[in-house]
Parts: sequence; structure tokens; C-alpha cells
Amino acid sequence: MSKLWGGRFTKETDKLVEEFTASITFDKELANEDIEGSIAHVQMLGDCDIISTEDAKTIKEGLVKIQQKINKGEVEFLVEHEDIHMNIEKLLIDEIGAVGGKLHTGRSRNDQVATDMHLYLRKQTKSIIALLNDVQKAIVEQAKENVDTILPGYTHLQRAQPVSFAHHLLAYFWMLERDKERLQDSMKRINWSPLGAGALAGTTFPIDRQQTASLLGFEKVYPNSMDAVSDRDFIVEFLSHASLIMTHISRLSEELVIWSSQEFQFIELDDAFCTGSSIMPQKKNPDVPELLRAKTGRVYGNLVGLLTVLKGLPLAYNKDMQEDKEGMFDTVATLDGSLRLLAPMIRTMTVNKDKMHQAVSQDFSNATDIADYLVTKGLPFRQAHEIIGKIVLYAINNQKFLLDLNIEEYQQFSPLFKPDIYEILQPKNVVGARNSQGGTGFEQVKIQLAFAEQFVE
Ligand code: ARG
Repeated sequence: MSKLWGGRFTKETDKLVEEFTASITFDKELANEDIEGSIAHVQMLGDCDIISTEDAKTIKEGLVKIQQKINKGEVEFLVEHEDIHMNIEKLLIDEIGAVGGKLHTGRSRNDQVATDMHLYLRKQTKSIIALLNDVQKAIVEQAKENVDTILPGYTHLQRAQPVSFAHHLLAYFWMLERDKERLQDSMKRINWSPLGAGALAGTTFPIDRQQTASLLGFEKVYPNSMDAVSDRDFIVEFLSHASLIMTHISRLSEELVIWSSQEFQFIELDDAFCTGSSIMPQKKNPDVPELLRAKTGRVYGNLVGLLTVLKGLPLAYNKDMQEDKEGMFDTVATLDGSLRLLAPMIRTMTVNKDKMHQAVSQDFSNATDIADYLVTKGLPFRQAHEIIGKIVLYAINNQKFLLDLNIEEYQQFSPLFKPDIYEILQPKNVVGARNSQGGTGFEQVKIQLAFAEQFVE
């Protein structure tokens, strides 16, 4: 089959080479962006008198027709035409005749593909931001129901101090808020237009890059044509933001797995989000959070993959850059699927408030509070810490918790203890007392919730 670039060649391309170098099997995902970019380009060619306005109109109409056919699934893309750009150009020429060959005037696939990628990532970034926002909403909804729900807070996965479950959940809200902010910030760079950079050096035609940029909704044009065609930083940036999002998702997923275990029983995931075992009839497995945790790996892999492709590439375009696509598509699909599951899984989970409460009543997570108590009686914190350490050891040796010791036992350790310590040791008071800004005290959590709500749409 004749190639669009066949003039210089005397031999057919080797079939294996054709297959090896083609990207159409995956870059067909860019069909709509490619046509959008071409329509802007041809409009500009007509307006700048580089081609006649009739030709521009014919080409534009042809592109619209092809787009309709593609979206109806009526088009077969061919490996012989290598990639989405040449497949579409070939379809155009078949549709409207030789005039279709004027579309590529003053343009190269190098600025064309870069333009497509910018358009694609802009659309996907907006969509990921909206999905992050929905997970945040789900978190806020659960948090609202659980301001007064108390569970152990951990450090080193050892009971540390009790916290409000809303407070624990909202920690994830802020991670996702930073993720959203990072994606929003990346829009500044995604919105640079490479179109008109040509193969690498610009073009001899009097093109108007500002016009195509504004037709495509870009805010700026790349000031350097070589940078324009070889820049993939915006994709690396997306993959790195995606990696961090997956880090956050996997940390939350890990907690959901732990919390839903028999040992914790802090939450129960909805049946619709779990699966069973083919052999053990009693099993209800948290496959969804497990997979969310695991899918982080492929997203990291995609980031490292692209960084490695780009490392050491000379300017400007190199075929290596075609390898930027699959990892990006895979990352978009992974993030999209993960976030779409995470939101309803959070919304539908059951919070076992009693189990959580039971846990905090049977531990030493109120120990800091009696140390603080002695401090309010005038003892330096370090001495108070030492005394409480001894009390904890005494309690452990006598198989008791702090609330089980009587006042005489306390007073053996310090005469400063009075019966008011029993109120202070109640988990609800332990949490409530942490009213420093950003703390888990109920008043603070309510303030935090109201603040968080300002960030969701
Ligand atoms: N399929 C190519 C890619 O994705 C399009 C650009 C090809 N340019 C070239 N000079 N071979 O990178």
C-alpha cells in the first residue's frame, strides 16, 4: 500500500517493521483531539491565505464527516498508515480527494502529535479533578456522620491517642485537595500550544500560531519550536501527580483492608464492593481496596517508564517519544476506574461505632492525658511522663486499664491525683480536650469540616 511519505523510497516497508513502528493500535484514542487540532489548523491556513477559503472549508467539512464516521465506529484504521495522524489524513483524501493533501501544509506530525497530547491531557485532567472532588464529597459525607465516633489513633500501628473518626477521614480529604490543586496548577503548562512548531524549526508559511492556540483554547504558544515538539514534561507531570494520587488511594485502601478485618472490625464494606472465595464459604474479601492498593504499582511504573524514555534524548523529536502514550492512557484509565470505585465504597461502608469505642476503652491511649493532668498540677512534663510510665507498667502487671485503678493506687504514685482524673480519662473527654487548632477535639473537627466543605463543588 502506498505511503503518504513514500516518494523517497524504492522498497515496500518490511511487514514486521510496519507493525513494530505503528502506534495506531493505541493512538486511535486521540482521534477526536487530532481532528480538533486539524480543524483549527486548516481554519488558520484559510484565514492566512495559505490555502483558499474554499479549500479550507472543504477540508473542514471532510474532517467533520470523518469524525462522525469514527465516532459511529464505521472506520477501520490500518497499521499500514502507522498512526492516527496519517490514518485520518488518508481517510480525508479518500473522502474529499487530492485537496485533502493541503491539510498538512505548514505542519508536521511532530507538532500535531504534541498538540493532540495537550488537548487529550487537558480533557482528562479536568475529568480526574472532578472525580477527586467526588471522593472528597464522599469523605465529607462520612465525616459528618462520625464527628463523635471515636477510634484509636495509631503511630507505628500501636495505639497512640484516640481520635474522632471524622478527623481520621478528613486527613485523606486534604491529601486529595493537594492533588486537585497540583492538577489545577499543571493546567498552566498543559495549556501551551505546540501547534505551528512544524517538524522542529517552524515553517516557511506565514502561519498564525496565536490563532490556532486561541481556537484550541490554549493560553500561550511555546516560544521555542524545538522545545514545543520535544517537550513531554507535561505528561511526566501528570504521571507524577497521578502517582501521588495513587499513593494516597493506596494508603486509604490499606486502612480499609485493616479496618474491615476480623481483628479490627471497625468498618464493614458493602457487599457490592467485596467478593467471595471459591473454597471458603465464610469469606468476604476486600478485593477492591486491595486492587486499588496494587494498581499504584503500574502508575509508578508508567512514570518511571516515561522518565527513562526521555532521559538522554537529543533534541528534537525522536521516535522514542511515541512510547509516551500507552503509559499515559493506562494511567488515565487506572485513575479513572479507581476514583470511580473509591467514592461509592466510602459512601456505602458501615462504620461500627461500637467496635471502635470498645477498642479505645480497652487500651492505654489515654495515658498522655494523665501526664498532662499532672502538668496542670505543676509537675514538669518529663517527670509526669516518668510517673505515668510506671503507672502503665503497674496496670499492665495487674491486668487493668487506667480507668480500672482506684484513687489510692493513683495516689501511691503521686499525691497530686484527685478523683477528677476519672472524667479526664474518659475517651470522649480525651478526644474533646484536644482543641488546639487542627486537633481532633470535636469543636476543631467541626470547624475543619466546615472549612473542607468550601473546597468541594
Ligand atoms: N506516532 C508518532 C508519535 O506518536 C507521531 C509523530 C511521528 N513523527 C515522526 N517524525 N515520525 O510520536
